[in-house]
Amino acid sequence: MRHLLYREHKYVSAAFNNLERVIAKADFREEEDLSKVTQNFEELVGMLMGHAAHEDNSFHTLLAQKGSSVHAGAEEDHIFLDKQILKIRECIEKIKAAADGEKVQKGYDLYLTYRKFVADNLIHLHEEETQILPELQRLYTDQELQQIEAKTYQAMTPDQMLHMMQVLFPEMNPSDKEAFLTDIHHLQPKKFEAIWKQIETTLSQKEQEMFSEKFGQTHQKV
Ligand SMILES: [Fe+2]
Ligand SMILES: [Fe+2]
Repeated sequence: MRHLLYREHKYVSAAFNNLERVIAKADFREEEDLSKVTQNFEELVGMLMGHAAHEDNSFHTLLAQKGSSVHAGAEEDHIFLDKQILKIRECIEKIKAAADGEKVQKGYDLYLTYRKFVADNLIHLHEEETQILPELQRLYTDQELQQIEAKTYQAMTPDQMLHMMQVLFPEMNPSDKEAFLTDIHHLQPKKFEAIWKQIETTLSQKEQEMFSEKFGQTHQKV
């Protein structure tokens, strides 16, 4: 199997859908519910902006360097994302400004707008995985693709790496987790060693057994 990118999309998709459920169930007559939706949405926005910037700066730059333009649509989507975010913020402001009798209707408007935003973005993730990834795999070797995250992992502290895995791993299967662990182990062995015992606690018993030989023994030797 070729080296995969975009594994974190499983987490992105889950985050989109988790907030959709929160918005679907919110009683917008209650200030507490509106502030929870607002806070969750701004957290999602922060994550999405970082995610899109990483793709623009890393993946798309690599494609442009080889003369490919397959990422043009994805870059337009990233620009469109900013507009969608503004539209959702406007919906939230309209709920805040609405009279009590209008808040449920304005909340429903937010729900529809947000769900369309999710639908558009799930298509965006799909296109990245089915159009951009094959192009990157065609133009670069697996070793070169593994190096994409080298700078990121070099800049991250062990605690930041641990936090990243604690956030991503609950949405991933054992193969995805093994791929993350393999990359970090290969690119930053000392940092890996510092957090391996804590990472183990985020894994199931079965995963611990699966990975202990590969990472645990190497850990002893590092
Ligand atoms: Fe993207
Ligand atoms: Fe993406």
